[in-house]
Amino acid sequence: MSETELLLYLPTAILALIIAWNLIKTKRRTLNLPPGNTGWPFLGETIGYLKPHSATSTGEFMEQHISRFGKIYKSNLFGERTIISADAGLNRYILQNEGKLFECSYPRSIGGILGKWSMLVLVGDMHRDMRMISLNFMSNPRLRTHLLPEVERHTLLVLRSWKENSTFSAQDEAKKFTFNLMAKHIMSMDPGKPETEQLKREYITFMKGVVSAPLNFPGTAYRKALQSRTTILKVIERKMEERIRQMNDDDCERLEDDLLGWVLKNSNFSTEQILDLILSLLFAGHETSSVAIALAIYFLQGCPRAVEQLREEHREISRAKQQSGEFGLNWDDYKQMEFTQCVINETLRLGNVVRFVHRKALKDVRYKGYDIPRGWKVLPVFDAVHLDPSVYGQPQHFNPWRWLQITGDRGNATSSSYSNLTTTNNFMAFGGGPRLCTGSELAKLEMAVFIHHLVLNFHWELAEPDHALAFPFVDFPKGLPIKVHHLHHHHNLIQEEVLYS
Ligand code: HEM
Ligand SMILES: *[C@@H]1O[C@H](CO)[C@@H](O)[C@H](O)[C@H]1NC(C)=O
Ligand SMILES: *[C@@H]1O[C@H](CO)[C@@H](O)[C@H](O)[C@H]1NC(C)=O
Ligand SMILES: *[C@@H]1O[C@H](CO)[C@@H](O)[C@H](O)[C@H]1NC(C)=O
Ligand SMILES: *[C@@H]1O[C@H](CO)[C@@H](O)[C@H](O)[C@H]1NC(C)=O
Ligand SMILES: *[C@@H]1O[C@H](CO)[C@@H](O)[C@H](O)[C@H]1NC(C)=O
Repeated sequence: MSETELLLYLPTAILALIIAWNLIKTKRRTLNLPPGNTGWPFLGETIGYLKPHSATSTGEFMEQHISRFGKIYKSNLFGERTIISADAGLNRYILQNEGKLFECSYPRSIGGILGKWSMLVLVGDMHRDMRMISLNFMSNPRLRTHLLPEVERHTLLVLRSWKENSTFSAQDEAKKFTFNLMAKHIMSMDPGKPETEQLKREYITFMKGVVSAPLNFPGTAYRKALQSRTTILKVIERKMEERIRQMNDDDCERLEDDLLGWVLKNSNFSTEQILDLILSLLFAGHETSSVAIALAIYFLQGCPRAVEQLREEHREISRAKQQSGEFGLNWDDYKQMEFTQCVINETLRLGNVVRFVHRKALKDVRYKGYDIPRGWKVLPVFDAVHLDPSVYGQPQHFNPWRWLQITGDRGNATSSSYSNLTTTNNFMAFGGGPRLCTGSELAKLEMAVFIHHLVLNFHWELAEPDHALAFPFVDFPKGLPIKVHHLHHHHNLIQEEVLYS
């Protein structure tokens, strides 16, 4: 290249550079990210975000950030650039656009422990296939005919062991109930058997690891949980081999009607996939609903008026059953538990068992004038909406009546029987969109049946002060110690002994 040529090209090259630079800059300038901090290098604001706080509050971190930046802000969490949303509309938008604009994206440590085939971390077709299995298994017909009696049997098993005037951890009892139910429903494992008890013990270690910092060193909770995972998978695998043997023995009529059998018959999943599916269902179905039941016991203890109204509702149901000489709840009885459904929704709204979910943006998304760039993490925070005073009046107050349907006698023909849309539309305890919790109906059934027998048979009070903390997984630090007294009215657990023992 001669000197003159260079002189000719240089300005052009510089000009091109300037134009390119300006283009990049304009693109940056037009990108309107939500306000927010990035915090410390690498750690970002993770420690502040995960700081334990009362489960019925959204926490200091959220409160301060929302008052400073608004309901949509940016941060740096779990080592990634993140948009945090306390905005009901954006949360709904994120969940509805799963697979299109956003996608489930849990931290790698969760996949490490729940397994790479766990439903909580899978996306795309594989997720769809596993979800179908889980939906089929908890379908409405199955709930009515198969699960309702099982739920009642396991409720009575736990409640019958409560001795007059005794004190115990309500949270442990709730865990026992949901674990036994899940172990039975998923793998036909019976409560009290050595195998089941071993699985329960391993499971406790496992759980501690799922919710702990993912530090894989000897002695850490995470490391121990990884070892528990291996043990649990061995138990499940043993069950699976047993089942396959039975199937080959042409014993098809005697085959257990459980999830394991269902998956073996109706899917072509590999052993590894089935193991992860079962482990993650055990996790998703046990941990959440037991906390929800403990929360209901806790909130109700502080609201005698609601307990009274529940007793009325359930005594009515139980009276009608006694008159007709029936034992055991059926679907019509369940459908009559209207106020109970209000108590369930209110418990989940105020207690926030699952406080947020992990997503990432698949495309550049614009929402309310803000840009969410492709690849960023996005966290829809449900508790921030459930506890927002502009959405739920007096949000800290346990008020099941806010869920009451507005019925015909107050309105007229055109406005008869609608519930307050603000209340229901912003309620996302079970997530939403294509990943809506597949166990939501089962969870509500468990809560309702448990509450039925609880209010009919017991009076309870806190034996010591305790309250739910969000770590952010919800837990009662003292295990919710309660003291119980039998009620000696017309209803008695013993009556049902004939049927359920
Ligand atoms: C009160 C109790 C429960 C609460 C609050 C709850 C909440 C949730 C939430 C928020 C999600 C969405 C997670 C996400 O979008 O990333 C979810 C998913 C899921 N839940 Fe539940 N859940 C409860 C009980 C149950 C039960 C009893 C089961 C039964 C086995 C269950 C099985 C599942 C499964 C399989 C998923 C994954 C669904 C999918 O990815 O398509 N859950 N749950
Ligand atoms: C109940 O237990 C307390 C101590 O836990 C005891 O003081 C009280 O007498 C007991 N009451 C009845 C009726 O057994
Ligand atoms: C199961 O079969 C379907 C089609 O029948 C196929 O698309 C899918 O990849 C198979 N899954 C596995 C895990 O082999
Ligand atoms: C619904 O609830 C919201 C918040 O509690 C309240 O402001 C609104 O007036 C209620 N609407 C109706 C129709 O009752
Ligand atoms: C019925 O309700 C609608 C809407 O709430 C109201 O506009 C109308 O006046 C009501 N009619 C009567 C007869 O009360
Ligand atoms: C409880 O919440 C769900 C989900 O928003 C809603 O469909 C249902 O109607 C609510 N139940 C009551 C009694 O308001």
